Amino acid sequence: MSSEKRRNILFVDDEGSVLKGLQRMLRRFRNDWEMTFVESGQAALDYLGESPCDVVITDMRMPQMNGRELLSIVREQYPHVVRIVLSGQANIETVIEAVEPTHQYLSKPCDPDVMRATISRACGLRDLLHDDALRSLVTRIDSVPSLPSVYQELHEALSDPETTVSTVGDIISHDGAMTAKVLKMVNSAYFGTTQDVTSGHQAVAMLGVDMVKTLVLSAGVFSQFTAAEMQRFSLAEFEEHSQRVGAIAEAIMLDGGGDKETAACAYTAGLMHDLGKLILMKNCATEYSDVIERSQTENRPLGEVEQQIFGTSHAAIGAYLLGIWGLPDDLIAAVGFHHQPFVSGTEGFCPLSAVHVANAVDHSVEAVFACDRVDEDYLQQIGMAHKLPEWTALAEQISQGAN
Ligand SMILES: [Fe+2]
Ligand SMILES: [Fe+2]
Repeated sequence: MSSEKRRNILFVDDEGSVLKGLQRMLRRFRNDWEMTFVESGQAALDYLGESPCDVVITDMRMPQMNGRELLSIVREQYPHVVRIVLSGQANIETVIEAVEPTHQYLSKPCDPDVMRATISRACGLRDLLHDDALRSLVTRIDSVPSLPSVYQELHEALSDPETTVSTVGDIISHDGAMTAKVLKMVNSAYFGTTQDVTSGHQAVAMLGVDMVKTLVLSAGVFSQFTAAEMQRFSLAEFEEHSQRVGAIAEAIMLDGGGDKETAACAYTAGLMHDLGKLILMKNCATEYSDVIERSQTENRPLGEVEQQIFGTSHAAIGAYLLGIWGLPDDLIAAVGFHHQPFVSGTEGFCPLSAVHVANAVDHSVEAVFACDRVDEDYLQQIGMAHKLPEWTALAEQISQGAN
């Protein structure tokens, strides 16, 4: 893509013939990428010691230093470098073992377009999260919300195949305040539940485990902020906007052909998309109040004024936190780029697209921060521009249905 910076990519494989094959296959990207090919982990480390590098793509099984060992060192010494494993290994355990020091996994043979999309997406997120202004702002923040413990418990329980729906209900019900908050959301109009849901168990049975897990995440995160800390905006309105954007993003994702999993991701990202605003308001109250005031009086998008004053935005701060919590990249990208999907490096219709549209439409329907506009060029580029009127109607229906 011509709008992107030229990336330095380092390929590592002990088989010269594989490297030659890659070189041939990827020749057409030579204007976008500066490519270097080396035959061992040590040669890769020597290269990294001397040259700038954006991405390392390595084979797993290599003599002396294998891919996992190489990537662990890269993570330690060059944390800004995107790490990708490209491996033909079918042994699932070795692959899982490799995942930890890896950002992404690609299997051999790899389609060049899949590789390009993976690199572009991973670099977009890396650029966002390794930005100096963001880092220096984060160091000023004393109070960072923690990942809710009930969410963590659910996450662990759900990775155990023995866990039943009733166990999940038990975990939620242990925390009374959490249950009350989740039930309030479940009984709100966004879910169209026809009967009152009165217990954690019933919520799990009706909405499914994944949906309840998402609600626990947002209830647990938002409850770490108080209305008194929010000065310039209402926490209640904030939560309502977040819930509407979640519901709209999910509907858009499904309408655009997304599956259950991507729709769930769009929903969670919609709920969390403005989390960075809460963090800024709680930690930099005076400056952030000024930013909001300026955005309103000068009629400029909030993200633009934030960029001018802080050098970063609420979207990037939210994404940064979700990254620390280990949430998936698609979710982080949907939050981090919700105002600027164009610079994300993602291609095609994805949860980010849905959250971007849902947020802009909801802000304009509610006439709050109405400068957040849908980027129609972006929709054009992903082939979804024709869907905008339909999605706007869908969003209005959901927003109004909830009032
Ligand atoms: Fe936003
Ligand atoms: Fe928003």
